[in-house]
Amino acid sequence: MILIISLSIIFCVGQSLQTKSNLTLDDFFNNTEFASLSFSPTGQHLLYQTMRPAWNSNAYEYTLWVYNIDSYKKTSIISTLGYFLSPRWSPSGNTIAFIHTEYLLSNSTDDHQRLSEKSYYIYFYSILTEELHTIENTLERPSTFAWSDQDSSLFLVTSTSRFVNNDEDILAYREQINNHISTIHRLDFDWTNDRPSLRQFTPIITVPLRLSDFLYVPLEQKLIFLSTSPLIDDLNSFEIYSIDLRNQSLLTRLTHNQGFEIGLQLSPSGKHLLFRNYTRRSSRTIFHDTQRRLYSLDLTNGHTERYGSDFLGNIVGYVPKSDGGVYFLGQHKTNVGIYTQQSLEDTTVHHLGWEGTYEHISSSINRPQAIAFAYSSFDRPKEIYYVDDIKQLQFAKAITNENQHLTERIIPKATVYQWKDEVSNETIEGILHYPPGKDQEDNLPLFVLMHGGPYDASVNSFFAGWYTWAPLAAAHGWLVLEPNFRGSSGYGDEFLDEIRRQPLTRSTRDIISGVDQLIKDGIVDSNRLTIGGYSYGGFLTNWIITQTDRFNAALSGSGSIDHTSSWGTMDLPVLFHHLFGGYPWDESHIYQTQSPIFQLDRIRTPTLIVTGEKDIRVDPAQSYMLERSLHYLGVPVNLIVFPGEGHELSVNPWHGKIKVREELKWLQKYGHRTAKFY
Ligand SMILES: *[C@@H]1O[C@H](CO)[C@@H](O)[C@H](O)[C@H]1NC(C)=O
Ligand SMILES: *[C@@H]1O[C@H](CO)[C@@H](O)[C@H](O)[C@H]1NC(C)=O
Ligand SMILES: *[C@@H]1O[C@H](CO)[C@@H](O)[C@H](O)[C@H]1NC(C)=O
Ligand SMILES: *[C@@H]1O[C@H](CO)[C@@H](O)[C@H](O)[C@H]1NC(C)=O
Ligand SMILES: *[C@@H]1O[C@H](CO)[C@@H](O)[C@H](O)[C@H]1NC(C)=O
Ligand SMILES: *[C@@H]1O[C@H](CO)[C@@H](O)[C@H](O)[C@H]1NC(C)=O
Repeated sequence: MILIISLSIIFCVGQSLQTKSNLTLDDFFNNTEFASLSFSPTGQHLLYQTMRPAWNSNAYEYTLWVYNIDSYKKTSIISTLGYFLSPRWSPSGNTIAFIHTEYLLSNSTDDHQRLSEKSYYIYFYSILTEELHTIENTLERPSTFAWSDQDSSLFLVTSTSRFVNNDEDILAYREQINNHISTIHRLDFDWTNDRPSLRQFTPIITVPLRLSDFLYVPLEQKLIFLSTSPLIDDLNSFEIYSIDLRNQSLLTRLTHNQGFEIGLQLSPSGKHLLFRNYTRRSSRTIFHDTQRRLYSLDLTNGHTERYGSDFLGNIVGYVPKSDGGVYFLGQHKTNVGIYTQQSLEDTTVHHLGWEGTYEHISSSINRPQAIAFAYSSFDRPKEIYYVDDIKQLQFAKAITNENQHLTERIIPKATVYQWKDEVSNETIEGILHYPPGKDQEDNLPLFVLMHGGPYDASVNSFFAGWYTWAPLAAAHGWLVLEPNFRGSSGYGDEFLDEIRRQPLTRSTRDIISGVDQLIKDGIVDSNRLTIGGYSYGGFLTNWIITQTDRFNAALSGSGSIDHTSSWGTMDLPVLFHHLFGGYPWDESHIYQTQSPIFQLDRIRTPTLIVTGEKDIRVDPAQSYMLERSLHYLGVPVNLIVFPGEGHELSVNPWHGKIKVREELKWLQKYGHRTAKFY
């Protein structure tokens, strides 16, 4: 029996090596992403959400799934072109509730217009009958909800404009931003024959805030939420609040810090509130800028304490453990692993798993040892995994095979590559993706793909998309370097903050020294260098091509060329305030000397520019200015503007695919030629 199995394995491997073909654009963009994952309170089921392109509808299709851990049965609950807001298990684990946005698909050719007409419903899915029901009334813009401690009531948040008259559109800008109120309602319903029917819909409190994360704390009969704002300039807009249902719905603010709070979760004891936060704040005297950290707030006395304070990297996710303590996802250098801290007094322990990237971790009180997560690595496309006992993490089994088609292709080999920054003598690293079969070859053409952020990192994962498309570029013959330059997360808080007051120049030095090392090592052909990136990667691209003409082709995605006007138009001015050391009038020298706009006449590199038409992070005007300048200067340039898209290019899957298709063509057209354009 064993012999037969091993023979058949050899046969399969032998066969697949022969028949595997290179990744194509179509394969790469036809992938499935996982948007959420959670255990049922009983520990019996996993609920997860997938997202994949619906090419014929010019939209993404979302599907909610339930997986039964004991019977291995997978059931799809509903598939739609709309996103499901916060699918949540009821306290008993018998029901899943979610808010569904139904797009009223019009015939508009404008994607944004087409998807902007919506109506909202709250749905209930019964695990027992496998039926889906909705309660009758259409909702006014729900933003989130939380179950109470019973299966027959929940708290729902709806949001509206404060001013509901026809002047709304012409309100002063600043008023528009704050023109928001949220109302929390209690919904009580009856279950008859496994069908919910609405009994009562009671408003509880209205607050002049936008709410994001929202929880019910049974022990204290409190509602807890996070306030948020579309304009990220005042960190007081991002705080945690509680509402005491026992005391006239008294609203209390729980945090008063200079950080962004994200990802609220309640400890299983119901006594602690966990959250992550990070700082982007500076003043003339004090500043700190941190990676993401994890805190626990004692709801009885208001004290906060920090988890994982001995962990050097960036905490990208977590789940409270049933026996106290936490599991957290920690990005350290190019891996994202699972760590445990049993109590605040204990040290952090790294669970021995696979190299790569763990995401969406979930655990259950009723299966304290079990764990579920999404995982991918350089050579393994993303799937969801489950294991009964976290001690056996390396033996976790995939419960999905959504990206099977990618495993049938040759996935380019990738390794971590290190070099030294001569000035600081610090080790910098990046990821190299080799063209298939060429990992031993010299003199390869290079494409430097820089991540955004800047507080982000390129990691050992497989995310097929328009932002992280290194494997596809490698499959098209490029050696891809993804550098984790100064400013990247996962290398300690100091590494992150070293770019302050010299954001473009400091990161550039690390990137160029990596390219030099690759040439010195003989791996790269110095006559065939190309470079590109999106967002902060676009900022760097725009800067680097003003500093050197060594690159034959450049891909500039949603970058900035004049940081003063970018500061003035972006939704994240606090980032620039921090990066440049102050406001433009405080630090005009830094804003000016780090801005490409005054040096554009030095550019010799043919440049393809892309931007979303409705990007409010980096104004498309920056890309138009770059296009106009290069056009006048006689440097080959093309600007592609994606209609209806914001910074995330998340509206129409064709846009991301077309972006990369055109970028590959640009690299192919100009990347191998050394002719300079003077
Ligand atoms: C994408 O995947 C779907 C489902 O697996 C398949 O039917 C379709 O042909 C694929 N499309 C492309 C362009 O590869
Ligand atoms: C949308 O297009 C369909 C088919 O072309 C047509 O039957 C329908 O009347 C159109 N609807 C509107 C609102 O224009
Ligand atoms: C209700 O809130 C008020 C105002 O903070 C406080 O003085 C009072 O003690 C609270 N009552 C109870 C029962 O907690
Ligand atoms: C995070 O929140 C805690 C509790 O409010 C606070 O002490 C800490 O300074 C904050 N940290 C960051 C990095 O914002
Ligand atoms: C640079 O760092 C290496 C260790 O990474 C050390 O051996 C060497 O002495 C350092 N050189 C200088 C000039 O500090
Ligand atoms: C895959 O791509 C590499 C690099 O472009 C090329 O050398 C190789 O021949 C391709 N292999 C197949 C099977 O097409």
